[in-house]
Amino acid sequence: MASKQMTQMLHMNQGQGETSYARNSSIQTAEQKRMKPLIEAVIAELCSSTSTLVPGKMVIVDMGCSTGPNALTLVSIAVKAVQDHCFQVQQPPPEVCLLLNDLPNNDFNTVVKSLVMLRQSNEHVVVTGITPGSFYERLYTSGSLHLVCSSNSLHWLSKAPEDLFKNHIPAYDMDKDARRQRHRIVLEAYAKQFRKDFTNFLKLRAKELVSKGRMVVSLVGRRSDVTATKFSYLSRTISQILSVMVSEGVIDKETFDSFYVPVYEPSSKEVREIIKEEGSFSIREMQVHDPTTDMNNALSTPSKFVNLLRALCEPILVQHFGDVMYEFVSTAERHWSMEGNLLGPYAMLAISLAKA
Ligand SMILES: C[S@@+](CC[C@H](N)C(=O)[O-])C[C@H]1O[C@@H](n2cnc3c(N)ncnc32)[C@H](O)[C@@H]1O
Repeated sequence: MASKQMTQMLHMNQGQGETSYARNSSIQTAEQKRMKPLIEAVIAELCSSTSTLVPGKMVIVDMGCSTGPNALTLVSIAVKAVQDHCFQVQQPPPEVCLLLNDLPNNDFNTVVKSLVMLRQSNEHVVVTGITPGSFYERLYTSGSLHLVCSSNSLHWLSKAPEDLFKNHIPAYDMDKDARRQRHRIVLEAYAKQFRKDFTNFLKLRAKELVSKGRMVVSLVGRRSDVTATKFSYLSRTISQILSVMVSEGVIDKETFDSFYVPVYEPSSKEVREIIKEEGSFSIREMQVHDPTTDMNNALSTPSKFVNLLRALCEPILVQHFGDVMYEFVSTAERHWSMEGNLLGPYAMLAISLAKA
């Protein structure tokens, strides 16, 4: 699955069923809760800054909102923070416009209804809207946004790493020696794609934010810069399961070799470097959390583990391999029983940024 096709197809599992993102997003919910103080601090600053908010209007966006209960969490935190802050300082609240973004194939059905309910229950929320499209493209007019939020999304790349798919280099070689030899090339290609995408994201948002506009984002990262452990936990787990399916003749090797999970987990150091190099934003705060407890809870049984993988990856798996989910589920359950939940050297990064 290459280039543009990837983002067009990418979305979390839809609906409300057992394998939906709506019912398998507790790790992400925990991260959103951790972002609350960062969002509250930013709102207090925005509401106090007359130069940023003139003339009393605030546009807040969540990028990569997905579907289910998490879709409205960040904007709800922001709206409550506006209300509380303005009440505390006895200031009239600004008119608020709330916009939610995700890729066009996202399940926006229930999100739209919840968004309308949020508007109806908050008199200062005047406008709500959905902006389908990739956050790696321009989505809003210049200088129109005050706060951009995004949780658990920016580790998703715009496409498979170019250096790999153009040169037909598999992300996970079935042959152990070849895999070891190419390990560095694969990791560097993923790191390069992330650098390109994240730089692009920063440039685009810098255009769309007002002067002194703010961003609060979180993404999955990794704990250290040790190259040997750089390969994403999600990519590695999915690849290991699929490679068993190749060896059992369920999927063919050529199809497997051309499959890339478009995810990269950067270290906090890499993220800092990219933000500094791009130059549009300063980092007000960066927090690095260890999500082991959340992950242990979320992946504590084979079915929870499989449902989470399906919630995140079923659409791109089916698009690339056809309907192999029955076999995928049984192979993934066996994988869990043999390997446990295989926690990687994981970290969640939460960053508060100010436009320079
Ligand atoms: C793991 S979900 C996180 C959803 C939600 N923010 C949360 O914290 O639970 C990642 C979301 O990012 C979206 N996404 C990935 N790449 C995107 C892109 N280029 N543009 C917009 N959304 C994207 C996916 O469709 C998915 O809904």
